[in-house]
Amino acid sequence: MIAERSTWGHLIFAIQACLICCSCTKTDAKVQEPQPFLVEAPSYFPTVPLFPDNPLTKEGVALGRLLFYDTRLSGNNTLSCASCHHPEKAFSDGIALTAIGASGTALHRHAPALINMAWANNGLFWDGGSTNLESQAFGPLTAGDEMHQDLVTLVDELNQVPDYVNRFSFVFKDDIKVNYIIMALAQFERTLVSAGSKYDAYLQHKQGIQLSWQEQQGLQIVEQKCAGCHEGALFTDNDYHNNGIDSDFRNAELEGIYKGRARITYNDADLGKFKTPTLRNVMVTAPYMHDGRFATIEAVLDHYAHSVKDSPTLDSLLQINGQEKGIKLTEEEKQAVIAFLNTLTDNNFLTNPDFDKPQ
Ligand code: HEC
Ligand code: HEC
Repeated sequence: MIAERSTWGHLIFAIQACLICCSCTKTDAKVQEPQPFLVEAPSYFPTVPLFPDNPLTKEGVALGRLLFYDTRLSGNNTLSCASCHHPEKAFSDGIALTAIGASGTALHRHAPALINMAWANNGLFWDGGSTNLESQAFGPLTAGDEMHQDLVTLVDELNQVPDYVNRFSFVFKDDIKVNYIIMALAQFERTLVSAGSKYDAYLQHKQGIQLSWQEQQGLQIVEQKCAGCHEGALFTDNDYHNNGIDSDFRNAELEGIYKGRARITYNDADLGKFKTPTLRNVMVTAPYMHDGRFATIEAVLDHYAHSVKDSPTLDSLLQINGQEKGIKLTEEEKQAVIAFLNTLTDNNFLTNPDFDKPQ
């Protein structure tokens, strides 16, 4: 009996040793290089762009996700990117003008949702003040009213964490540098694809998925009256428009923050123009507009129907015969639009375990 048991013991040990050995040589071969990460999107989306200067890798995306949720990224180690960009709100925060930042002062702009960022190819921020995700994150990281982080200190802090040191060296083949922090964040943000709503299921002819009569009526209205700006599968043209929420954009204070796009272009023709936000997941991203002034979707539709303000840069799509301003919508049409907007809520996106805080 004893002899038999020990033979088995040896055998099991030998098998285990072999397995460990085999698996280590196998993974060794596998993990030498970061693995490419393919952003997937349906055929009716614009082509997925390539990012030759910051190609996505699985390990880079995973690193970016860790950083996105890490409070070490703020000066007093209490705030992460996710403090203002909550996954269950499509990475918006539900607050008009948050005062959660380091200084406790309310920001002047509303935290936008982060959806389909891979296609955001015409500037970031409401006025396009940032060119791409590789430069954008410097804003919140260093701003005194946001994360108020000294970048040299941040690199020191991350260097205290062996897991980060290993990950950066594997992904970027180098020591931790601020640029790599931003690049990893950008890689993670570009994976935030929302294409799993009921409307998508409908476009993909998924079995048993139909739009109700009211949802179809809403779709038609959006295609006719909104798609001039909330365009195509992304529901944004990535461009800047004055949609008539204000008529006066003179403000000397605050670096001209209410000038909109004109703050960046110095062109008065861009006064009051802001980037068209997507309508995807819009039912979970209230409040609305660049300053979060409208608490509900009803208020947004009332604005378009009755309260569009005239000014020299008001978009021509919001001027009927150059006289009456706005988009005519009956109460029934408003309800139909809301019914359709509800079909753009993508629960797979909002609860995607790959986007959530890593364990
Ligand atoms: C204190 C709240 C706060 C924190 C923390 C924060 N953000 Fe933001 N974020 C905002 C606000 C507000 C805006 C809009 C600013 C503007 O347009 O002027 C914004 C805009 C953005 C945009 C532009 C989106 C678009 O469509 O134009 C991106 C991307 C973004 N944030 C990513 C991040 C990342 C990455 C971090 C962490 C490094 C971060 N944010 C931290 C509040 C915050
Ligand atoms: C002329 C272009 C244009 C048209 C037409 C237009 N919009 Fe907009 N929409 C915008 C812009 C630009 C903003 C952001 C303005 C701002 O923040 O100051 C916006 C904001 C919104 C928002 C707020 C989204 C958010 O995340 O804050 C909703 C909702 C919206 N529009 C719905 C609609 C609907 C529904 C229609 C059609 C009935 C429509 N829009 C027509 C350009 C347009």
